[in-house]
Amino acid sequence: MASKWFETVAVAQRRAEKRLPKSVYGALIAGSEKGLSSRDNLESFDQLGFAPHIAGLSSERQMATTIMGQSVSMPVIISPTGVQAVYPEGEVAVGRAAANRGVAMGLSSFASRSIEDVCAVNNQVFFQMYWSGDRDTMVQRLERAKAAGAKGIILTLDWSFSNGRDWGSPWIPEKINFTNAVKLAPEAIARPRWLWSFAKTGHLPDLTTPNMAPVGTKPPTFFGAYYEWMQSVLPSWPDVAWLRAQWDGSFMVKGVSRIDDAKRVVDLGATTLSVSNHGGNNLDGTPAPIRSLPAIVDAVGDQIEVVLDGGVRRGSDVVKALALGARAVMIGRAYLWGLAANGQAGVENVLDVLRGGIDSTLLGLGKSSISELSRDDVVAPADFFRKLGP
Ligand SMILES: Cc1cc2nc3c(=O)[nH]c(=O)nc-3n(C[C@H](O)[C@H](O)[C@H](O)COP(=O)(O)O)c2cc1C
Repeated sequence: MASKWFETVAVAQRRAEKRLPKSVYGALIAGSEKGLSSRDNLESFDQLGFAPHIAGLSSERQMATTIMGQSVSMPVIISPTGVQAVYPEGEVAVGRAAANRGVAMGLSSFASRSIEDVCAVNNQVFFQMYWSGDRDTMVQRLERAKAAGAKGIILTLDWSFSNGRDWGSPWIPEKINFTNAVKLAPEAIARPRWLWSFAKTGHLPDLTTPNMAPVGTKPPTFFGAYYEWMQSVLPSWPDVAWLRAQWDGSFMVKGVSRIDDAKRVVDLGATTLSVSNHGGNNLDGTPAPIRSLPAIVDAVGDQIEVVLDGGVRRGSDVVKALALGARAVMIGRAYLWGLAANGQAGVENVLDVLRGGIDSTLLGLGKSSISELSRDDVVAPADFFRKLGP
């Protein structure tokens, strides 16, 4: 049998495509509208180059760091994503992989596994929330996350409920019942290994969201939870400040593109912000975060931890983001491809690929530590960067 080990994230993606039913793979590709932002997230990293050294290189390369109060083995965080029911153990498999590799993990409020189950296998979990439901409901979710052992909160604010894609959106059933299983059958039968992975567990994919309901009550379906979110009154900046004040500890605001928004996030007392366009799944045309990162770091980098997510597929991408001022990056699709390709081991594989890539890039740049990286290590085309907002 061919080795299940893959040498790059691109190989993992090809395996995921082969293994998953078409609509499930499409749900991971995601993107929105014309796909401008999701494409720019990848192409922008390709436009950046390096200025390497060839001798006097360092035999030791240090990449451990801290983020949101957690000591981690490398500057990579599992970004929260809501579709991990593509693999039987879902977020629990990802949580184990991250713990085995000393990496912190964001858990989506749209996750298929509970915060209690995931904190039981990983003690560096950040619970991700949207502005959904009323204030009492949100406070209950924070209290539940605290009781489960979450080490921080990620509040994701960039979402504009766009729902069209030029390449067609995948069909996601409300739940997997007999009728929907029959509808999915032609696609699923063409993917026997994927079907077998669920058949072995005796369970069908779970499309409910256990973190969106009080413990012990029936979890809403994905669409039920999405409906609650769509109906919620949109938050003002004082609302966001109120939510931040309800959590004592590390608090990230995810989805920042503009300098003025970054300053507001600092003012409301967040510890961390993520420069992010939601992986290109939100307002299409939002520039890749790597383009906006340096201007945001210049404006607020001495007052808050700045991380980046969007388009990271290689260790060298991580190093580019760090050289341009990020403290760490978060990854989304990269580990989802690993999960789909080979479960927990596939996520570990992706983290190992990134670690190896960070190490060899540091070697080539003549660095003994990520703390030595600077903008001089990266070459960018003249019109590469974006400065959004005052
Ligand atoms: C399929 C999918 C589901 C996602 N679900 C969530 C989510 O529930 N909450 C959230 O904050 N971000 C979510 N994201 C965005 C990721 O956290 C992250 O911002 C993005 O994937 C980074 O881009 P990358 O996939 O190129 O690494 C999702 C992304 C994808 C691809």
